[in-house]
Amino acid sequence: MSDTLAGVRALVTGGSRGIGRAIAISLAAAGARVAFGYHGDGQAAHSTLATVRAHDASAFAIEADVSVEAEAVAMVDRAIDGLGGLDVVVNNAGILHEVGLLDTLVADFDAVVGVNLRGTFIVGREAIRHMTRHAGGRVINIASDLGYLGRERNTAYCASKAGIAAMTRCWAREFAPDILVNAVAPGPVDTDMLGAEVMSEEQRHKEAEIPLGRIGHPEEVAALVTFLAGPQATFITGQTYGVNGGSVMT
Ligand SMILES: NC(=O)c1ccc[n+]([C@@H]2O[C@H](COP(=O)([O-])OP(=O)(O)OC[C@H]3O[C@@H](n4cnc5c(N)ncnc54)[C@H](O)[C@@H]3O)[C@@H](O)[C@H]2O)c1
Repeated sequence: MSDTLAGVRALVTGGSRGIGRAIAISLAAAGARVAFGYHGDGQAAHSTLATVRAHDASAFAIEADVSVEAEAVAMVDRAIDGLGGLDVVVNNAGILHEVGLLDTLVADFDAVVGVNLRGTFIVGREAIRHMTRHAGGRVINIASDLGYLGRERNTAYCASKAGIAAMTRCWAREFAPDILVNAVAPGPVDTDMLGAEVMSEEQRHKEAEIPLGRIGHPEEVAALVTFLAGPQATFITGQTYGVNGGSVMT
């Protein structure tokens, strides 16, 4: 527990489980007031909310599909109302649909890009709309190392994550110096999305190629997000930081 984020009001999308859950807990543990979004996994959201509330008794969760404009806009509005403002937004909600290019339907492509890229765009736009009217803010978008590396059977996912990194740079330029916008690009992290417990031989082989020799933990991503939301990250904008055990080195 610390109070580095005391007084900070934060919205985390996809906060019910995995990386978003760890981010919501980490921000609250640093003293922030937290709202988080989720879609379709109410039980996980309920359990995460109980944990976040151990640090921030006023924390709340909002169900919304970020790919649906009206729902995403309403979620940001509700967060601003409930928190009494918004200083930090973390665009973390994401999905992955692994399918070979030749079998990828336009509907599959649209679904992944709709959540990952369009969802980040809508939530980011609405959060920034609020932040520009106030004393500034921080936007932290969750990209992926696959946005650089590419991966077979993941066209839509990789394209959406590269798009998030590009959008991050656009917003950082457009809203400097008041709003700082950065991205975090994790490598493989132990969550439901990765399905680490059922990793294939091929995936295990890839894991062995990570210089640090293992996949990451959600808390290791959350630690960087919490730093970027905090008082020491004042000269950083437009960056995409890897948390990947060395799988990408630039
Ligand atoms: N796990 C990894 O290895 C890894 C690696 C790189 C990047 N990432 C990125 O990190 C983020 C979190 O991934 P995770 O592994 O924790 O995933 P996860 O599947 O464990 O959790 C996804 C979260 O997103 C929410 N969500 C899903 N669809 C949504 C929608 N339509 N609207 C709103 N919320 C929705 C879910 O409710 C859940 O809270 C994603 O953006 C993912 O692309 C994950």
